[in-house]
Amino acid sequence: MTNISSELQVQPAGSALAASDETVVHTPKDSGVPEWARDFTVADRVVLITGAGQGIGRELARQFAAAGAIPVLADLNVVNAQRVRDEIIADGGRATAFQVDIADPTSTSDLVQAIVAEHGRIDILINNAAVFATLDKRHFELIPLEEWDRVIRVNVTGPFLCARAVAPIMRAAGWGRIINVSSDAVPKGVRNYLHYVTSKSAMIGMTNAMARELGPDGINVNCIRPGPVATEVERAVNPTIDLRRMQLSQQCLQRGMVHTDLVGLMIFLSTPASGFITGQTIACDGGYTHSS
Ligand SMILES: NC(=O)c1ccc[n+]([C@@H]2O[C@H](COP(=O)([O-])OP(=O)(O)OC[C@H]3O[C@@H](n4cnc5c(N)ncnc54)[C@H](O)[C@@H]3O)[C@@H](O)[C@H]2O)c1
Repeated sequence: MTNISSELQVQPAGSALAASDETVVHTPKDSGVPEWARDFTVADRVVLITGAGQGIGRELARQFAAAGAIPVLADLNVVNAQRVRDEIIADGGRATAFQVDIADPTSTSDLVQAIVAEHGRIDILINNAAVFATLDKRHFELIPLEEWDRVIRVNVTGPFLCARAVAPIMRAAGWGRIINVSSDAVPKGVRNYLHYVTSKSAMIGMTNAMARELGPDGINVNCIRPGPVATEVERAVNPTIDLRRMQLSQQCLQRGMVHTDLVGLMIFLSTPASGFITGQTIACDGGYTHSS
């Protein structure tokens, strides 16, 4: 694990002076590119992925493991999380699985304690778990208050609780990455999903503010904004063929999005190479929202 120390040697947390000194000493022989800027590896990183029992979270866990990281699969549905863990181990990777309800502060702090007891640290948190596919689509005036509260509790309070629980661990290590997951539904303003769209909009503001508060601790906070992603999961609200055609017609890249399309961006944001990127929301959607 040379990654953490090599990054800190060049830019100690909070040392703007050290960073500018690096610029001053550039010479023709020395490109000034520190070792960590070329470090695109997540090998041996402990990556907590919420909602990893299926869909996007499952694929991220599998791909982080293939890249040498140790994904920690945390899901309300622990049977699914364990199944994915077993898949990863059968493929020669490393992984552990835990049950968590991200909406419950006791559950999230118990989770973090259990991960630290097992792995000794948490390098990366991917706030992926959310409720949406199972939600009935309806006009906002018809959304029951209990359903509104549940969506906000899981999709907004959940990532807050997870970040709050891992922040002290990352701060003590002087290095960390938090990646939140928003949605194309925010810029599109998808109708009949007001609680979901509102909750995913909050991910962008949370990212902006959390990045400021955690930057001095060496923790980068970013957000990805996926487009409509086909996963292995049959949806309660599957898009119609007409909707898929309409989505494709608005994309720059002319194919449907799959969950593996998110892997490269997620891994990049988890590496030392992305060390100067924080507080950003990056769309990964084939240009779907670019054209809106
Ligand atoms: N699939 C898409 O088209 C799409 C598009 C844009 C954004 N997203 C976002 O990507 C993320 C993953 O989407 P997906 O399609 O894989 O979703 P999914 O519904 O297939 O999986 C969500 C996972 O979260 C878990 N979960 C739900 N509530 C939980 C809780 N309280 N505590 C712990 N785990 C809980 C579920 O058990 C499930 O395993 C979500 O944040 C979603 O909003 C998805």
